[in-house]
Amino acid sequence: MKIYLDNAATTKVYPEVAKKVQELFVDKYGNASSLHSIGTEVRKKIDEARGKIARFIGAEISEIIFTSGGTESNNLALRGLAKANPDKKHIITSVIEHPSILETCKDLEKSGYKIDYIGVNSEGIIDVGEIEKLISENTLVVSIMHVNNEIGTIQPVEKIGKVCKKAEVYFHTDAVQGFKKIDLDIKDINLFSVSGHKIHAPKGIGFLYIKKGTNISAIITGGGQENKLRSGTENVPGIVGLATALDVDNKNNEIKKSRDKIIEGLLKIHGTKINGSMNNRIYHNINVSFYGIEGESLMLMLDKDGICVSTGSACASAKLKESYVLKAIGVEDLYIHGSLRLTLGDDVVGNEDYVINKIKKNVEKLREISPFKFEKIARK
Ligand SMILES: Cc1ncc(COP(=O)(O)O)c(C=O)c1O
Repeated sequence: MKIYLDNAATTKVYPEVAKKVQELFVDKYGNASSLHSIGTEVRKKIDEARGKIARFIGAEISEIIFTSGGTESNNLALRGLAKANPDKKHIITSVIEHPSILETCKDLEKSGYKIDYIGVNSEGIIDVGEIEKLISENTLVVSIMHVNNEIGTIQPVEKIGKVCKKAEVYFHTDAVQGFKKIDLDIKDINLFSVSGHKIHAPKGIGFLYIKKGTNISAIITGGGQENKLRSGTENVPGIVGLATALDVDNKNNEIKKSRDKIIEGLLKIHGTKINGSMNNRIYHNINVSFYGIEGESLMLMLDKDGICVSTGSACASAKLKESYVLKAIGVEDLYIHGSLRLTLGDDVVGNEDYVINKIKKNVEKLREISPFKFEKIARK
């Protein structure tokens, strides 16, 4: 038995999605730009998918630009705005963004952009007032993520959107972790990024929502697909898979109940703390630290017990660096090193006690060999 608790890293493609995707690989495999019958049939599939996504988010069809995923959408948003509006050289973002935003900002810094990376409070939430103060005549865009990939904190993006609208500054949100899980009012949001593989669609597909009237340029040029904003032969199986995944029932309420039960169980282990916000937190995220142990060892032990978890952001885990997000919210080093991220899916329902007991058993084992005295841990 495997219990997969790493749904912020990626999700399984649901059978109904895989079935549709397979059809596009095997039967309807044409290039949407071809004028023959297979090509036109495939073009129709893209149009239907785009229409379905637009209706789902309350957007216009022309406002959906398919990309290869969250990373590309974030790059298109920032670099595309920068290219089209060269007179504005200031960007506001936060210190806890995904690397696809942070590294893009660092790169833009090299070509003369001034970037303000705003901090967060101990729950991982930004101060909207700080953004308001930093906006100037020179500000091109404010980019703040909707839900953090490590600690699951939800940012007040609708409020930020209002502030940006009033100041006539573009607002982009990286909605990769929140899309389809949390409602998003897009009225005051100019651009937002989505990734298919976080919502039970295949990897390598996503989109950028670009509100009508946004001045943005392509960063990938070629055949002029996607309204000339993203050239390249369309990933039709991915596009159709993404639209199909909108129908997948997330089972939010059941998963939230499991999440709360697991948190309650874990907090009974001495020297344990939950990182991030208890109230403004996405329903499937548990970011937990066990004082004085190695998170990597715990993750490997849990893997042997059939439980798949992460020790931080999966995209960064190969680097084995301590989490910059946990640092930003002020978690002490000896807690940071013993941290796990559990992002639950429906296979956790009914298995909560198994998960709690295995974590407890393994934490106790690691503490037996830990150089930190248990009495010290217990007092924490
Ligand atoms: C918040 C956030 N933004 C962007 C990305 C990148 O998305 P993709 O894997 O589709 O490139 C991720 C992936 O982990 C993410 O969590």
